[in-house]
Amino acid sequence: MSSELFARIVHARCTEKVLAEEPLPASGKSLANEILELAAWAPFHRPANDVHLQDSELKALMPWRFYVLDDSACRQLREELMEKDSSNVMRMLATADCMVQVTWLPNPPQTELPEKILFEASLENMEHLAAASAAVQNLLLAATANGIRNYWSSGGVLRSPEVFDRLGIPTQEILLGSLFFSPQDVQSGTIATSKLRDKRGPLTGWVKRVHLS
Ligand SMILES: Cc1cc2nc3c(=O)[nH]c(=O)nc-3n(C[C@H](O)[C@H](O)[C@H](O)COP(=O)(O)O)c2cc1C
Repeated sequence: MSSELFARIVHARCTEKVLAEEPLPASGKSLANEILELAAWAPFHRPANDVHLQDSELKALMPWRFYVLDDSACRQLREELMEKDSSNVMRMLATADCMVQVTWLPNPPQTELPEKILFEASLENMEHLAAASAAVQNLLLAATANGIRNYWSSGGVLRSPEVFDRLGIPTQEILLGSLFFSPQDVQSGTIATSKLRDKRGPLTGWVKRVHLS
């Protein structure tokens, strides 16, 4: 593999929110399985807890799940949510060829969690979440390498129990992000990028080489 090519892909990945008020035409476009499969090659330390595997159609050991909507499903979900939401999520569902709801699979808590605490702060959970994040990055890089615009969103309304229910996502899974994949030709849409992109600064801000004498 060429390391220059890999570096080019890593640098080229960039938040691109493709926004439009009027939906772009949909015809069943989505992400190919060959692209989705690259996400599976992320490292993961432990199998997901059995509670997520029993009674589930999705049986893989990895501690993440991807729920993939093609462009027609994106337009339909937009229609259904328009009454309750007017955020950019609606404008992105209007343009996306594909939207992926990525969840990760927390271990069942040992004790009852206080309200608003999403999961138990254990090492195992940290590692499940880290593995799922690595899978997301693989997918974003794969999309970039294939000329597909992409964006990792926190999800907004797509985190709601109503959307989980509508998409058939088990309530015990936690949304890690809603990933939007958009075409190169954005037609009447506009592209918004991230304000943080150029704020990373040099290596010296986050790398310390440790010397032991
Ligand atoms: C877990 C996670 C959630 C994110 N959620 C949002 C979001 O809700 N809204 C947003 O504008 N950007 C979101 N982003 C994208 C970041 O803002 C973006 O990656 C960062 O600013 C760097 O820009 P770049 O992706 O162009 O390099 C999220 C990124 C991550 C890792």
